[in-house]
Formats: sequence, C-alpha cells, structure tokens
Amino acid sequence: MKLLLALAAALTLIVAVSSAMLRLSLGGAGCTPWPACYETRADHAVQTSLTPEQVPGWHRGVRLAHRVTASLAGLLFLMATLFGWRRWSYSERCAALVLLAVSVGLALLGRYTPSPLPVVVQANLLGGHLLLAALGWMLVRPRLANHSSATTSAWLPAMVVLLMVLVLAQAAIGGLVSARSAAAACQDGNCPLFPSDAAGAFDSMRSNASLPPSMHAPQRQAVLQLHTVSGALTVVVALVVAWGARRSLPGPAMALATVAVSGPLLGWLMRSGPMPLAITVLHSLLAAVLLALATGLCRRLRRA
Ligand code: HEM
Repeated sequence: MKLLLALAAALTLIVAVSSAMLRLSLGGAGCTPWPACYETRADHAVQTSLTPEQVPGWHRGVRLAHRVTASLAGLLFLMATLFGWRRWSYSERCAALVLLAVSVGLALLGRYTPSPLPVVVQANLLGGHLLLAALGWMLVRPRLANHSSATTSAWLPAMVVLLMVLVLAQAAIGGLVSARSAAAACQDGNCPLFPSDAAGAFDSMRSNASLPPSMHAPQRQAVLQLHTVSGALTVVVALVVAWGARRSLPGPAMALATVAVSGPLLGWLMRSGPMPLAITVLHSLLAAVLLALATGLCRRLRRA
C-alpha cells in the first residue's frame, strides 16, 4: 500500500509541476523583454489569443503529460481506497475521501481552465496542495506520542496546524499574485506596504480586465505586499516548528526548515527582477512540498 501511495504522490507532484509550468509561462513568467511582456500578459485575452509561434513548443508535451499523470493519479487514489479502506483508521479514511473528492473537483475545474478569474487559478493550486497534504498524511505513521523516550513540547502540535493553515493561505494569495500578474508590481522600487486605492485587489471573482492595466497598479502592489509579509510570517512559524521538532524528529525538522527558507528566498528573487520560468515553478512546487511536510509532521506527532 505504501508503494501505491508513494507512486500516487510522485504522479501528483508531476501534475502540480506541469500545471504550474503551463499557467506561469502563459502568464509571462520568464518572458522577454521583461517587464513589458509580463505587463501585456496580465490581460487574459492576450494569453488566450497567443499565436502558435508565441506558445513554447514544449506546451503540447507538457499538456499531454499533465492529462495522463492526472488520470493515472486518480486511478491510483481509487485503487488505494478500495484495497486499504477496511484496515485504515478514521483519519486515513478521511484523507482518502479528500483525495477522491478533490481529484473529481479538479477534473471538473479543468473544463474552465485557463480562466480570467483568479478564483480558478487559486482552486487549481489549492486542489493540488490538498492532494499532496492528504498523501503526506497517509504516507506517515503516527508514532511519536507513544514513545516515552520522545519528548516534544506541548505547544508543537498546535504550531504545526497553524503552519499548515498559513501555507494554504500563502498558496491562495500566491495564486492571486500570479493570476493578477503582480510579480513585477514592486520592481520600480516605489511600493508602499499598504497601497491605498487597492479596491478589487483581493476579489478573486474579479478579472484583471476590470483593474488598471499598469503592472505597478496599487491592486497588484497590495497583493504582492500581502504575500510577502505573510510569507515572512510563515517562514518564522516554520522555523519555530523545526526548532521544536529538532530532537525528536531531526530529519523532518531539517527538511521543513530547508524548504521553508528556500521557497521564499526564490520568491524574493522573483519579486526583485526577471527570473527564468523554472525558478517560479520551483517556488510553487516548494510551497506544495512544505504543506506535505507539515502535514506529515502533524501526523507523526499524533498518538496511534
Ligand atoms: C512560505 C512562504 C510562501 C509560500 C508558501 C508561497 C507560495 C506561493 C504560491 C503557491 C504561488 C503561486 C505560484 C503559481 O501560480 O503556481 C506564489 C507566487 C509568488 N510568490 Fe510566493 N510563497 C511564499 C513566500 C513568498 C515570498 C516571501 C515572496 C517574496 C518576497 C514570494 C513571491 C512570490 C511571487 C512574486 C509570486 C508570483 C509568481 C508569478 O506569477 O510569476 N512568495 N507563491
């Protein structure tokens, strides 16, 4: 069963990466001449009317890989549930139901993707994150709390849950940053922490067509600044969690700290200047890995 779940997790990672590659490259991540090309792509109509010459050749292969791996992953979720249901605990059954419900939801959402509405980008992102979190939960055995030798601080489990909520919120705001093409909003340096006149910035049902076209528009600056500030908070909480788990779970603690610092560092590079597509995709992927690690740690801290 563990092999089946690990295979499903690997396929889900490929689905998340291929989805981010398609979305972010259409959105202008890594395009030239920066930032003019990125500003142009903020308009969804431009993204969907690109000529075949303007769409990178690898899109076709990645789109096919996305569809094939998504279908295979769905199949593995179903097989794992059929074979594992009887001997699973209540929480594992809940995680399996999350896998099935979210993958059906994402399949339906696929019909409306790409979309000018940020809410569709956020739903795709959060769906992928939730799949990896559920798999992280099912792949890890709860043991630590039963080991008399293992002492963890009483506050640690609650802190891990806080981290999971923060990473999910960060993914939602990050999806808004990319849907609003706001990565370059502060690259001219004149960027107030709380831009005024940012009406509509956080309305995920509002497309970019109803916002000022400038990439330095206050709405874009507001979204990026919030993502940056809450990103810093998420890093602090992740490091506190890693510190709390350093003795009882040194390996997971080190992995969590490494991912929690490297992801936002890439984010800082992306908001400071033009970055290749691979960096933006890696930032998105590390966010999903951070959530899966935090979920696995949360399970590990629980009583069997
Ligand atoms: C733990 C903290 C963080 C998490 C979990 C996180 C997560 C994300 C996610 C999921 C996206 C969407 C990517 C996509 O559309 O696939 C994103 C986008 C972005 N993030 Fe973060 N982020 C974090 C911290 C930061 C920080 C600290 C910064 C900057 C200082 C940053 C800058 C950006 C930028 C510029 C984008 C837009 C990329 C684009 O569309 O070109 N992030 N983030």
